[in-house]
Amino acid sequence: MEHAIRELSADHRTALTLARIEGLTVKEIAHRMNRGIVCVLVLLTAVSAAQADDKDEDPKLVEYREHARKNKGNPGTGKKVFETDKAACARCHAVGSAERKAGPNLLGIADKYARSQLIDHVLRPGAEILAGYGTTVVVTRTGEVVTGIVEKRGEEALELFAVKGEVRRIPTKDIAKEENSAASLMPEGLQRELAPAEFTDLIAYL
Ligand code: HEC
Repeated sequence: MEHAIRELSADHRTALTLARIEGLTVKEIAHRMNRGIVCVLVLLTAVSAAQADDKDEDPKLVEYREHARKNKGNPGTGKKVFETDKAACARCHAVGSAERKAGPNLLGIADKYARSQLIDHVLRPGAEILAGYGTTVVVTRTGEVVTGIVEKRGEEALELFAVKGEVRRIPTKDIAKEENSAASLMPEGLQRELAPAEFTDLIAYL
């Protein structure tokens, strides 16, 4: 990640610092940097894409990956992990049921990917984004930023599956700007809430 950040311009770094260290909102950053909200949003989106691209990730990931490759894991325990709040998987993914959520249905995912690919999809969500699940970022006229996956686009409103798994309805007249983001809606680092053995059980379940 440090490598990717070094490649970024001074503007990217300023936006990142204001967002991360000072915890400012996009609107506040725009004000500080004397830039438009959309410009700041583009900068921050580029930073997250660069991070997703970078292969020198968290050394801890290796530990989870190795544990899940070398051990079989228990699918029964894995199902429980999948459904817990700390893993958050069930918030965005259904397995088999017809319920529509932000992420794709994971039924049959083990037939689609080899075990090692499946492990990587969970550990590095931004690396490869499934077609049709691109992230959309909307800035409203009041400066609120809503990130999600388009569920329905009508004349009157846009409906997005947002990060917490909820559906947000934004009236078309309130949309100031809409962008596609290169980052996955699926958060990185979900495994940090889990022990390596729990992660392995989760993979066994899938
Ligand atoms: C905030 C919503 C969200 C959460 C939480 C989430 N995911 Fe995802 N997931 C997505 C989205 C959106 C995609 C599709 C975009 C992509 O490929 O990155 C996805 C893609 C995937 C894929 C690849 C699917 C394919 O067909 O390529 C796997 C596997 C997966 N998620 C597993 C998990 C597991 C396991 C967890 C819990 C540890 C989890 N997800 C948590 C939203 C989420």
